[in-house]
Amino acid sequence: MKILVTGGAGFIGSNFISHVLGLSQDYAVVNFDKLTYAGNLANLDSIANHPRYTFIKGDICNPAAVEPAMAGCQAVVHFAAESHVDRSIYEPAPAMETNVTGTFVLLQVARKLHIKKLVHISSDEVYGDLPPGAFADENSPLRPSSPYSASKASSDLIVGSYVRTFDFPAVITRASNNYGPFQFPEKFLPLLISNALDDKPLPIYGDGKQERNWLHVTDHCRGILAVLERGRIGEVYNIGGQDVVENLSMARRLLRATGKTESLISYVQDRPGHDRRYALTCEKMERELGWKPAISLEEGLRQTIEWYRANTKWMAAVRGGEYLAYYQKHYANRDRSRHAIKESGGGFPS
Ligand code: NAD
Ligand code: DAU
Repeated sequence: MKILVTGGAGFIGSNFISHVLGLSQDYAVVNFDKLTYAGNLANLDSIANHPRYTFIKGDICNPAAVEPAMAGCQAVVHFAAESHVDRSIYEPAPAMETNVTGTFVLLQVARKLHIKKLVHISSDEVYGDLPPGAFADENSPLRPSSPYSASKASSDLIVGSYVRTFDFPAVITRASNNYGPFQFPEKFLPLLISNALDDKPLPIYGDGKQERNWLHVTDHCRGILAVLERGRIGEVYNIGGQDVVENLSMARRLLRATGKTESLISYVQDRPGHDRRYALTCEKMERELGWKPAISLEEGLRQTIEWYRANTKWMAAVRGGEYLAYYQKHYANRDRSRHAIKESGGGFPS
């Protein structure tokens, strides 16, 4: 089967491509990616010359670019997105364009080319924040809070409309917070790991009591492949991790694991509209597809810290100009704690 993977140069997409090509002779992959700030071909260095891999640079909002890339493919796995909540708060337009219009364009082309299956990669953020102790299942209401999550929920509804109206063969997956190798270090876990390794402050939004449901990216990739191969058309599948952890407790855990002290914790101004809790039940994945997460948080964090420790060249390259500019804008004058980020030279690489 030849698969078009959109957003394959990003964090999860690149892990998925390596996973699929490494696992099975059955797949060829076309990676279609715009290479935004989040796209990085270095994530795919190990398979760049693989005989069943092709890269095409392009924008999913442009049907004239999407159509030739999709021609000859039987399936589409759609990762491409503006994926960062904070960026969508500063500037919502890119999230609306890529996540909503881009998904619509992809569906139109996929219908025209009679694609056999499209897996739309969505997020647990579409359920909005949950009360303490609650878990979302696939029938929970959509209550997105941020421009990012609203754009993902919109794309889910558009995909659902194509299934219902056009009998289009799509499946939706909704995953919880991923972590693992090749994650861009403006997201919480790689940011905290890299700052801890560099003895820089760890910025905690608000009171740090927000809860996230951590999923190792390899477990996510296994889940997506199971959905691609066996997921039922028109269905939604939650893919979540075993552990729901408060941000502050995660920061303390990472500090212990890197041998650093809690004095690095720096409370900063909260994210507007910040969701308190995400948590998924994934019984449907287990019951129908025999999937459940296999990598414990302890082992996953250990491996991930080791990966960031070992891949200093990758890290130095991604923490370049655009990253620095974003972080200056995002964290400057945001501190609320004794261990202020600005007092320690900005907290970010200079
Ligand atoms: P990412 O930001 O690391 O990568 C996104 C990729 O999409 C980049 O390579 C970027 O260049 C590409 N892209 C962006 N706009 C594009 C466009 N218009 N055309 C073509 N390519 C474009 O994202 P990620 O963390 O790997 O997330 C991948 C998908 O998984 C997203 O759809 C996201 O909503 C979803 N998701 C992510 C998580 C998470 O924890 N990271 C959890 C659940 C769901
Ligand atoms: O839940 C799935 C979602 O997880 C995906 O759909 C998104 O694409 C992905 O980016 C992620 O969204 P979050 O907003 O949960 O991830 P982020 O890494 O930005 O933040 C995780 C938590 O950590 C959140 O509660 C905000 C907090 N945080 C984040 C940063 C960057 C901090 O406390 N300090 C920080 O500096």
